[in-house]
Amino acid sequence: MLEPSLWLASAQRLCVLTGAGVSAESGIPTFRGPGGLWRQYKPEELATPQAFRRDPNLVWEWYDWRRQLIAKAEPNPAHRALVELEKRAPKFTLITQNVDGLHRRAGSRNIIHVHGDIWLVRCTVCGRQDQNEIVPLPEIPPHCSGCGGLLRPGVVWFGESLPAQEWEAATRAARQCDLFLVIGTSAAVMPAGGLAMDARSAGARVIEINAEETGLSRYVDVSLRGPAGELLPALLKEGIPNSDRLL
Ligand code: APR
Repeated sequence: MLEPSLWLASAQRLCVLTGAGVSAESGIPTFRGPGGLWRQYKPEELATPQAFRRDPNLVWEWYDWRRQLIAKAEPNPAHRALVELEKRAPKFTLITQNVDGLHRRAGSRNIIHVHGDIWLVRCTVCGRQDQNEIVPLPEIPPHCSGCGGLLRPGVVWFGESLPAQEWEAATRAARQCDLFLVIGTSAAVMPAGGLAMDARSAGARVIEINAEETGLSRYVDVSLRGPAGELLPALLKEGIPNSDRLL
């Protein structure tokens, strides 16, 4: 067995951070890579509180389109490998920046959603929050069944702070783990993008899995290059797949 497989097999407190790259093989566009959403749309027009105030209709049309896309997608082998990892590790925490709910659908249990959940809606008037999985939405923009107020997606927009409880749990898990996997994220967005280095400075080993090099690649212990849907299952099968291992 090679180091990463050994580290994985012997990890007592495993912490994982995922980004959009984990859902790419489920057919869900990432944000910054080729075909990424921020290559076609402007985040300041769709993913900020100001954008929502300016044009809730446009913002909801975009989220409704993403919800319909996600509803047709299935978890891929990367999601399923993380479910298997959770069964094996004595202590396991999955921190995700993804709002698509695919980790939950795959069967992961201990998930921290640091950027919210596209299947949650929250009333901008009374604050009521509900799970809403209706696609397509019958009414755009949707309104609160309680007070009739305008609903917003239950996701974290640029310029908003992360949910305090989730963020506290995520930073604690990153600092207490002995192995940190950072998978399918450009680590371009803070503070989530800094968790891998938090873990490393607290003494954890860090393995990156990414189709491309990222700003993190030179700082981690091992950076495995390739699709998460292939590398993660192979890593679980105790052999480093034929990827370019950068130590
Ligand atoms: N396997 C592994 N990595 C992949 C794959 C794949 N099949 N496909 C793409 N990637 C990698 C890309 O190389 C890139 O590094 O996934 C990463 C996706 O990066 P981004 O598109 O920036 O997505 P993410 O890092 O999740 O963005 C963070 O930014 O827009 C906000 O809130 C949004 O949560 C998101 C945050």
